Amino acid sequence: MRENKITQGGNFPQHIAIIMDGNGRWAKRRLKPRLEGHKQGAKRMGALIKHAFERGVKHVTLFALSTENLKRPQEELDGLFDLFRDFFRKYQEKTNEKEENIRFRVLGDVTLLPADIQESIAAVERKTLGFHERSVNFAVCYGGRSEILRAVNQAVRRGKTLTEEEFGELLYTRDVPDPDLIIRTGDEVRLSNFLLYQAAYAELYFSKKMFPDFSNQDLERALEWYATRTRRFGKTDEQIKKK
Ligand code: FPP
Repeated sequence: MRENKITQGGNFPQHIAIIMDGNGRWAKRRLKPRLEGHKQGAKRMGALIKHAFERGVKHVTLFALSTENLKRPQEELDGLFDLFRDFFRKYQEKTNEKEENIRFRVLGDVTLLPADIQESIAAVERKTLGFHERSVNFAVCYGGRSEILRAVNQAVRRGKTLTEEEFGELLYTRDVPDPDLIIRTGDEVRLSNFLLYQAAYAELYFSKKMFPDFSNQDLERALEWYATRTRRFGKTDEQIKKK
């Protein structure tokens, strides 16, 4: 086996989140419709999730549709909804969750999705409710600011000040640990309203590759990079070494 920072005992992330950007540009460069980019992206996504779990990652979160994306042309949205439909239905049928012990969750305002997709999401969520060891989370109709605002409004209704733990319970990600590593493809260097609260101490990795080209090998590179990072959480190097 090739030696690298991971095999030498460097940090390994429990939770990886991915901003899957660049599907449209991938398609445009090949003179194909944008939807072809999303189709290839969906295939790549499935393979990356599998690879991440095989490597020992516990939680994987994918940014599949932002609230802002809902303003895209209806034709593109309908194409994306077809992909979701297909993916969530197959996911429900094929996964042998008992063996895999993977909890499935959707983060975001699912009421903005067509009713049949909401139903298949609810069905998979129900089916995997009892699993805690690992999770796959899809951010759909998701926006970080509206997630925070929603939690703040719930807190106001409770009429008392909350601790960080109590506030975390009001977020879509309650019972998922914060992401350790956030990967963004598509040659953009921003978070675009993704997991704004949860990203506080995440390591951020940006890839120039368009998402359909982001291979398992590229994921390995991101993991190797992560293994070289020293996570200080605000402390000094000396304090970290003492631990
Ligand atoms: C951003 O690329 C990507 C999206 C808005 C959709 C992401 C969805 C998938 C990868 C597949 C479907 C997911 C599931 C759960 C089946 P972009 O269109 O903004 O690319 P661009 O910046 O190049 O235009």
